[in-house]
Amino acid sequence: MKLLVCGGAGFIGSNFVRHRVRDHGDEVVVLDKLTYAGRRENLQDLDVELVHGAIEDPDAVAQAIAGCDAIVNFAAETHVDRSIHGPKDFVDTNVTGTLTLLEAAREHALARYVQISTDEVYGSIEEGSFTEESPLQPSSPYSASKAGGDLLVSSYTHTHGLETVICRGSNNYGPYQYPEKLIPLMVLNALHGDRLPVYGDGMNVRNWLYVEDFARGISHALTHGAPGEVYNVGGPDEAPNLEVVRTIIELTGTDESLIEWVTDRPGHDRRYSLGSEKIRALGWEAQVRFTDGLARTVDWYRENTWWWQPIRSGEYRAYYERHYGRSLG
Ligand code: NAD
Ligand code: TYD
Repeated sequence: MKLLVCGGAGFIGSNFVRHRVRDHGDEVVVLDKLTYAGRRENLQDLDVELVHGAIEDPDAVAQAIAGCDAIVNFAAETHVDRSIHGPKDFVDTNVTGTLTLLEAAREHALARYVQISTDEVYGSIEEGSFTEESPLQPSSPYSASKAGGDLLVSSYTHTHGLETVICRGSNNYGPYQYPEKLIPLMVLNALHGDRLPVYGDGMNVRNWLYVEDFARGISHALTHGAPGEVYNVGGPDEAPNLEVVRTIIELTGTDESLIEWVTDRPGHDRRYSLGSEKIRALGWEAQVRFTDGLARTVDWYRENTWWWQPIRSGEYRAYYERHYGRSLG
């Protein structure tokens, strides 16, 4: 299969490309805008073609799509905190970009279009888990833009008969994740003896999914998913943020005195939880429990200073100062 992977230079996209090239022998073209979160280095060990361009640019899409059988779209603005202060980029990429890809998929009569989405489109849930039938109640500009993209995808199946599948993953973690997100931020801060900024009361709960498990779940949906269907892909474990931070403190041999209580995120969703029975029925199962995956992730960041050193001295440093009101150590 020749796959067009949009956003394949980001965290989950690059892990998915690695899985497809190594485990399935696919030919892959990556279309990526190389924003702050997208890096050529994430793919440097792989033999893939990288087209530098935006998914909302029809010319870039036309160049990348030639000869491909299917699109898997990871390309997105992804950080909730950034969406609060700069929502326009989120709509441009996550809504208009998705529409541009759908138009191209229709024109080229592609066999498959897979949209990568998130549990955040369902909003927050105090008890129990979301199913694919749960209503969309996004609460941040990020999740609202992702829900908009998902609705466009469904409309292209109903209106044009395009064979789409939507995969909604829970919070991912693992190698190559940009350190604006909770786990790599805390790991790198702990390794540097920097303070660990916990929002609110630290009791917001996330459903953690190791990135390689998500990559395999997406592969299942790509190959076996029924056209027009949504598949939730949730992790095997959930944990409040404070517990995650305490485990990272243990794994890095640092100290609880590094914890710093900071102002809560506006509109902060309390808990996410996904039921994954539908993707399990396709033969997928999560393989990595959170304690093992977190230990592996800490080891990866410890061993791959070449990957994060340029990030910590670049755009991320300025973002960190703006957002947290202090410098990185
Ligand atoms: P990321 O921020 O690490 O990577 C996003 C990638 O998209 C980058 O390579 C970036 O350069 C690229 N990109 C951004 N705008 C683009 C544009 N206009 N055109 C082309 N490329 C563009 O994100 P991630 O964490 O890897 O998330 C990938 C996808 O998975 C997203 O759609 C996200 O909504 C979804 N998702 C993420 C999580 C999570 O926990 N990180 C969980 C569930 C779903
Ligand atoms: P994040 O990684 O931004 O993912 P999302 O908000 O999309 O789930 O945040 C995960 C959780 O960690 C969320 O409850 C917010 C919290 N958090 C902190 O407490 N401190 C931080 O510095 C960050 C980035 C997140």
